[in-house]
Amino acid sequence: MLNKRKYFINLAILLLLGCTSSGRLASENKDREALKEKTMLSSPDTERKVDSVLALMTIDEKVGQLVQYNGKWDATGSKSSKRYKYKIEKLKKGEVGSMLNIISVTSIRETQRLVMEHSRLKIPLIFGYDVIHGYQTMFPVPLGESASWDLEIIEQSAAIAAKEASASGLNWTFAPMLDISRDARWGRIMEGAGEDTYLSTQIGVARVNGFQGNNLSDINTIAACAKHFAGYGFGEAGRDYNTVQVGEYELHNIILPPFKAAANAGVATFMNAFNDIDGVPATGHKILQRDLLKGKWNWEGFVVSDWGSIGEMQAHGYATDKKHASEIAIKAGSDMDMESYAYEASLKPLVEEGKVSIALIDDAVRRVLRVKFQLGLFDDPYKYCDEKREATEVYSTEHLEIARDVAKKSIVLLKNEKDILPLSKDLKSIAVIGPLADDKDSPLGNWRAQAKYNSAVSLLEGIKAAVSDNITVYYEKGVDLTVPTVTPGENQFLFPLEFNTTDRSGIPKAVEAAKKAEIVLLAIGEDAYQSGEGRSQTDIGFKGLQMELLEAIQKVNKNIVIILMNGRPMDLSRPSELVPSILECWHLGSQSGHAIADVVFGDYNPSGKLPVSFPHNVGQEPLYYNRKNTGRPSSKGNVAFSSYRDAPNTAFYPFGYGLSYTTFTYNNLNLDKTEITVNGSLEVSVDITNSGNVDGEEVVQLYIRDLVGSITRPIKELKGFKKLKLKAGETQTVKFTIDSETLQFYTANKKWEVEPGQFNIFVGGSSETELQDTFVVIK
Ligand code: BGC
Repeated sequence: MLNKRKYFINLAILLLLGCTSSGRLASENKDREALKEKTMLSSPDTERKVDSVLALMTIDEKVGQLVQYNGKWDATGSKSSKRYKYKIEKLKKGEVGSMLNIISVTSIRETQRLVMEHSRLKIPLIFGYDVIHGYQTMFPVPLGESASWDLEIIEQSAAIAAKEASASGLNWTFAPMLDISRDARWGRIMEGAGEDTYLSTQIGVARVNGFQGNNLSDINTIAACAKHFAGYGFGEAGRDYNTVQVGEYELHNIILPPFKAAANAGVATFMNAFNDIDGVPATGHKILQRDLLKGKWNWEGFVVSDWGSIGEMQAHGYATDKKHASEIAIKAGSDMDMESYAYEASLKPLVEEGKVSIALIDDAVRRVLRVKFQLGLFDDPYKYCDEKREATEVYSTEHLEIARDVAKKSIVLLKNEKDILPLSKDLKSIAVIGPLADDKDSPLGNWRAQAKYNSAVSLLEGIKAAVSDNITVYYEKGVDLTVPTVTPGENQFLFPLEFNTTDRSGIPKAVEAAKKAEIVLLAIGEDAYQSGEGRSQTDIGFKGLQMELLEAIQKVNKNIVIILMNGRPMDLSRPSELVPSILECWHLGSQSGHAIADVVFGDYNPSGKLPVSFPHNVGQEPLYYNRKNTGRPSSKGNVAFSSYRDAPNTAFYPFGYGLSYTTFTYNNLNLDKTEITVNGSLEVSVDITNSGNVDGEEVVQLYIRDLVGSITRPIKELKGFKKLKLKAGETQTVKFTIDSETLQFYTANKKWEVEPGQFNIFVGGSSETELQDTFVVIK
C-alpha cells in the first residue's frame, strides 16, 4: 500500500530544498498571455518546484525520466518474461519516466505504485496512449471528422476522448497528428486533417484545446502531443516511413505552420518522426527541434521520440550504434526515448566521457518534470485513478449521442443526380448490400484505442432503426472484402489484410435483392485496417470483388447510392459512372449506421466538405489544389505544357467540395478597399443565399492568390472559412478580414512577411470556385 502521507512529506522536503525559479515567462506575445490565463505556461512556482526536484536527482534518475517503456506485457509476453522483470526492476528503481499502452485504472495504479513505493524520489510516471479519435466512444477517423469543417464539434470530440482516457487513468495522448498529407497512397492520411495547411492548423489547434482544456491539471484533461515533427506526411511515393525531400520554403510554408500553432496553443508535448528529411532523420534534427521549436518558438514542453526512432537512426545510416544515436538525438532535442532502449544505456556514459553535457540532460529532464507538475501528478500521482469515474464516464450514453452528431456532420455528399437522396420514408423496399453493409467493426476505423471489437452501429442496423415496419429492408453481403488471416480485434500491426477473395457465391443473391428493391444502398470501400500506419497502397481503387458486385447490381437496378466507407481518398471514377449517388461516409465511429441513416433520410442535410482532393486515378498522386502554376500552365497549341495526356491536372472531387440537399448561391462579392499597405487590412463580404427548398449548412471558403512573389506562390490558398446555417430562401452576409496574418509567407528573405503586389481573392463553396476579385498591397 502506498503511504500517501509519507509521499507528501517527502515531496514537501524536496520543495523546501528547492532553489529559485528559472521560469521563462518573459514573452509579451498575445498567444502567450492567453496561455497564461489558461495555465498552459509554466509559472515561477512550477519552475521552482522543477528545479528543486532536479537538484536531488542522480544521473541515473535523470536518465530514467527520459525513458519510456511500452507496457503491454500482458498481451505480448508472459509476466515471467525476462523483459517484463527487467522493466519492473527499472520502475522500482525510479529509472523510468513514462509508460505507454497501459490500459485501465487498475493497471495504471499498479504500475504507478511500483514507483511510489520503491523508488528513492517517487517521481510519478506519466502514462501515454494513442487516443486518436476517441477512447472507447469512437468518433470519425480524423480525416473524416475534418470533413465537418466544424471546429466546435472537433474540439468537443477531443474533449470527450480526453474525458474517457483520463477516467481510465491516462494522462497523455499521442495526438493530434498534424502532418499535412497530399498523397492518398499514404495509409496515415486517415489520421490527420488532410492536404491543406490552413485547415489543418485550425483543426489541430481545436484538437489540442479539446484534449488539454483550460488547465492541464483538471481531472478531465490530458496532455496532447503534436506529431510527427516533421515532414512525415511527405514520404516519397506515399510509402510509409519513406525518405522526405522538401525544400526549405515548402517546409516552412506548408508543413510547419500547424506545429507552430500547436506550440502557441500550449501543446504539452511533441513527437518527432520516423522519416529523414533532406538527409537528416527527424529524430536527430537539431535545426528543427532545438533551434526552431525550443529556440525560436520558445516552446516549453518535451519531445518524445517516435517508437524506436532513436535506434532507427542506425538503419538510416546516420548513427553507428545506439550510443551514437543517443548522442545525436539528445543533442538534437529529443527528450524522451520511446522504446529504443538507447538512452538508458548510453546517456550516462556519454556524460561521463564528456560527449554530452549534463546541462542538456537537465534541460530534457526539466521539460519532462514540468509537464508532470502541470498535470498535477506531483500533488497526487493517483489523481486519474478512480474506478468510479472509469465505470460511469467511459462510453456513456451522452458521449454516444455526441458521437452521432459529429459523425453525421462529417459525411460528404459527393454525387446526387436527380436528387435521389434523401430517401423518402414512404418507400416500400430498400436493399442494403455490400461487404461493409452489416460490418460492425470497420466503421470504428484504425487507431481505435479501446473501442470494443464489433461495437459500431452498422449501416444495416442504422437503416432498420430509422424506418417503419412498412418498409422491407433486404440485406445481402454479396462478397467479402478481405480474407481473414488472424483473429479479428488483434494488434493492428499484426493484422495483414488479404484481398484475393474468390468467392462469388453471394453475388446472385445480392442481385436478387437489388431486383426486388426500389433503391440499393451499396456499402463498399475499405476495411478499417486498410488505412493507418504501415498501410500504404499503390492502388486506391476498390479491392477484392467489390467492383464486380457493383457492376452486377447495376445491371438490374440503377437506383444505387454508394455508401463509401474509407480512410483515404479513393479512385471513384469508374463507380461514379455507374451510380447516380455517392455518400462519403469515411470510418465514422461508434454511431456510424445511425449517422448515415440520419443523412440518407434527410433528417440531417449533409454539410461536409472534402479536406483532401480525390483523384481521377492514382497516377495523379500526390494531388492537391494549392499547386504551383509552373512555367507552362496551359496549352499553346501543342503538347509541351504541364499536363497529363490521359487525365486532367485537377481533382475528380476537389478539396473543399461537398453537396447539400439544397443549393447555395454566392452574390455581391465586395472588398471595402482595393489597395492596402503591408500592415493594413481590408474586409471582404459576400452574400450567400440558400436557393433551394430545405434548410442547410454551407462552408463558405476564402482563398487568395499572390500573383508574384520572391518565391513562386500557389494558384490558390485557403485563408478562411465559416460554416453557416441557412434556412430555405434565407440570405446571409459573411465577412472576412484580410490582413498581414493572411498574406504573409516565408519569403526568399527567410522571414515571414507580406510582399507588395497584386492578389486575387476567391470566395465560394469549394476550392474550384471562380467568384473572384483583386486588390493590391503597397509598401
Ligand atoms: C506511431 C506513433 C505512435 C506510436 C505509439 C508509432 O508507430 O508512429 O504515431 O504514437 O507508435 O503507439
